[in-house]
Amino acid sequence: MENKVTKIGVLTSGGDAPGMNAAIRAVVRTGIYNGLEVFGIMRGYSGMIENDIVPMHSRSVANIIQRGGTILKTARCKEFFEHEGRKKAHANLKKLGINGLVIIGGDGSFRGAHKLSQEFDIPCIGLPGTIDKDIAGTDFTIGFDTAVNTAVEAIDKIRDTADAHDRLFIIEVMGRDAGYIALHSGIATGAENILIPERKTDIEELVNGLLEKERRKKLVNIIVVAEGDRGAEDVAAIIKERVPSADTRVCVLGHIQRGGAPSCMDRLIASRMGYSAVESLIEGRYNVMIGIVNNKMHYTPLEKAVKAKQKISEDWLKIVKILAS
Ligand code: ADP
Ligand code: F6P
Repeated sequence: MENKVTKIGVLTSGGDAPGMNAAIRAVVRTGIYNGLEVFGIMRGYSGMIENDIVPMHSRSVANIIQRGGTILKTARCKEFFEHEGRKKAHANLKKLGINGLVIIGGDGSFRGAHKLSQEFDIPCIGLPGTIDKDIAGTDFTIGFDTAVNTAVEAIDKIRDTADAHDRLFIIEVMGRDAGYIALHSGIATGAENILIPERKTDIEELVNGLLEKERRKKLVNIIVVAEGDRGAEDVAAIIKERVPSADTRVCVLGHIQRGGAPSCMDRLIASRMGYSAVESLIEGRYNVMIGIVNNKMHYTPLEKAVKAKQKISEDWLKIVKILAS
């Protein structure tokens, strides 16, 4: 491993998440404060391979803490899956003398960072940036709080119209492999059912529950479904067939959940994590993902951060069942 980190690169990779800009700002300003040179790598690993790398100054990150998206842009980069691609990327870093990296992204991005650090001996620090909250070793991921609040606001609005018309709504929220957005937004909006990929959906139980509610004239129902469980349209097709009397509508919230001004919570954790990333590089705590556990900074080796997911609490699932009657 190289000795002293003097020039660092920061990039955002994979799906964007609100708060990524706050994290970039923290990395740039903490780096400069500590006398490091800081470079922004554009479009994730694509910019690393194509040498799209720009010097960053304190002013480069002015007025971005409140903005969604990412000023560095983000991408998914096929070439980086191959050793040849990573070799090209490393050659570009070497030319500029970059000897430390901060990667803001999800588990895929960390997998790439882990490979790069193993093959080319370059220290990498991961910051969990994903609206899905599906990374172990942290209580929070940058973007989740904003995304879930966006979902809550939208579902509240849908409930108004559902209530006015006595309708059943199936609302699909994001989460390819994880049901956190569905679970949190569903509980917070009083959803009658929440379908998540971590738990096999019992369709019979769902249908029987709806029929029973219909018997006692409870016609307004909100079913929140994570995209990774099954599509909202699929669920709607089953319900339309099995509960034909229900006036059923579907709403897919989609990418609205990925944008917008980050919440206070996301700005705060992004700032703390960005600061900690640079401190770690300076102190020689390499190849870890920075998380926050019990309100303290927590360091997980990159190879472990990519393997495990957070666990859905059984208590929370029980709460859904009891409260949504
Ligand atoms: P996220 O980081 O949000 O999980 P992806 O899974 O799409 O997003 O990963 C982002 C990028 O990280 C990929 O496009 C690729 O460039 C890189 N990456 C992901 N997995 C690997 C891997 N196994 N080896 C090398 N690079 C990877
Ligand atoms: O990883 C975040 C996420 O929003 C997932 O929940 C979703 O399935 C995916 O990204 C969609 O990504 P894209 O539209 O960029 O392919």
